[in-house]
This record gives sequence, structure tokens and C-alpha cells, in this order.
Amino acid sequence: MTTLRWPEAGAESMRNGDPTLSEEEFACFRQFILREAGIDLPPGKRPLVQSRLSKRLRVLGLDSYAAYWRLLRAPESHAERQRAVNMLSTNETYFFREPQHFQWLERQVLALRERQPGMIKVWSAACSTGEEPYTIAMVLAETLGISGNWRIFATDINTKVLASAKRGVYPLDRVRRTPPLLWQRYLLRGRDEYEGMVKVAPELARKVEFSQLNLLQCNQLHHTEIDIVFLRNVLIYFNEATKLDVLAHLCTRMKNGGHLLIGHSESLHKLDLPLVQEEPSRYRFEAARQLSGGGKK
Ligand SMILES: C[S@@+](CC[C@H](N)C(=O)[O-])C[C@H]1O[C@@H](n2cnc3c(N)ncnc32)[C@H](O)[C@@H]1O
Repeated sequence: MTTLRWPEAGAESMRNGDPTLSEEEFACFRQFILREAGIDLPPGKRPLVQSRLSKRLRVLGLDSYAAYWRLLRAPESHAERQRAVNMLSTNETYFFREPQHFQWLERQVLALRERQPGMIKVWSAACSTGEEPYTIAMVLAETLGISGNWRIFATDINTKVLASAKRGVYPLDRVRRTPPLLWQRYLLRGRDEYEGMVKVAPELARKVEFSQLNLLQCNQLHHTEIDIVFLRNVLIYFNEATKLDVLAHLCTRMKNGGHLLIGHSESLHKLDLPLVQEEPSRYRFEAARQLSGGGKK
């Protein structure tokens, strides 16, 4: 771990009893999350980082961010480093987010089924609390049948969101964009202490396999020959070099001719990758495509 200079103990400024994250301290946490997850926090995110870590400082009874940093750097603090990654990643998501992708998915899997007898594999590569892979599962269940030959792999770096994804229990407002027919088929309404919540039906949940995977090591995914990858609303946190590296390795898990979907606000502009743009947020992987060899064009 990099050694960074720290202010003298007790030099941290305090406001309202809570310590304030200094610029120097912020720089350490920035480097940490860049190295661990590829998340490149802009300077304006200092208040956000302070607010996310402040609760943890209180729980641990620490009076400064410097003390928390010392704890994080200790070689034995694996669990605390994972907890810090969980706190510093942003997990906003909901069912049927960016719905055009799911309309395309429906057409695409039908076309795939006609020409490919084997398993259709879809990867939700930054799945957060599970709304994205379960939305994909609903679409595939409708088009190919719940017992059809298809499977969804859902991964994220954040262990807290993965635990919640596996539980598959959501407040009603997270599912409000789900078409009513799909609600009836794939979501169970909660009663008593689960009033106001829904649970993903077990037969749908069984089609989704959740596991932890850092996109910085995405070539370590156990599955290959993936037909469709959803990599949405995560590239925005990466710098250009990280994007290039992540995507180059991600392509090694894809089937030749397979598709990649990114978020509508994201771009792969000028990145030298074997990906052909079909729509603003949709790409096709062409293994044989010659790269210029210099990374960014
Ligand atoms: C904003 S959510 C996007 C969720 C979903 N894909 C969507 O579009 O609604 C971004 C997710 O990316 C995950 N993430 C960030 N860095 C990651 C990394 N290096 N490896 C894997 N997941 C990462 C975060 O934990 C978070 O759950």
C-alpha cells in the first residue's frame, strides 16, 4: 500500500463535534478507491466521502479520518477494506432502468434462439442490488420460457449490495416501472412485516447466479462465450485508462458477435477496442477486428 504523509495527530479540524476530512486525507481515500475499484473520484466528491465514512468513524469510536486510514492500511484489515469499498461505491439502480435496452433484449434473444441451440448467457457486470439482472431474467423468462436454456451471471465488487441482491426483497418504489403483467408473474407481494415490499419469485431467482467480481479483474469471470453483457452506469466512475483495460479484458469473456450494453450517459469514444458501435449505447464484439495497437486512438 502507498505511504502517504499525514497531518500530526490532533491537527484534524473538527466541526460540530464531527471531524472534517482534509484535502490531504481525501487524497488518501481517493487513491485507495482508485486502486481497489478503479473508481476515480473528482475533487468535488470530498463532502460525499466525508459523509459516507463519518458513520463508520462513529461506530468504531475513531476521532479522525487519519485514524481510520491507519486502520485501513494495516495488512490484516481485509474486511475493513472491503467495507470501505462498499461505502465508497455508488449503487443507484432500479427495475427496467433505461427500458429501450430491454426492448432490444427481447428481440435479440429471440433471434439468437433461432440460430443458436445452446445456452444463452447474459452477464450483468455491475449488478448492484440485483434489479438489473432480475429485469433481464423477467424479459428472458417471457421470451424463452422460465425453464428455457438461458442463464444470467450477475457480479459486483460490493459485498453488501450482493447480499441484498441474493435476498431479492425490494420496497415497492423500486419496482414501479415494472409492467403489471410481469409483476403478477415474477414478484410476490409481502405481508405482515413485509408489507410494502416485494420478493422475486424463487423460480426466477434460480436463473440468476450472483458472485463477487472486481471489474479490474474481470477476465477472472468463470464463464466465457457470453452472448450479452450489461455494463451499465459503472464506466462513468472510471478514467479512460481504466475503461480501456476493463473492456479489453471483458471482451475475452464474450462470444464473437456478442453484444455489450453501456449506460446512456456513458461513452467508449476514441477507445481502441474490438467493439463496433451499433447504437449510441450498444456495441458488437468482433474478435477479428484489427486494433491499431496503441490503446486509445
Ligand atoms: C450505479 S450502480 C449500476 C447498477 C446497474 N448496472 C444499473 O445500471 O442500474 C454501479 C455499480 O458498480 C459497482 N462497481 C463499481 N466499481 C466496480 C468494480 N471495480 N468492479 C465491479 N463492480 C463495481 C458498484 O458497486 C455499483 O453497484
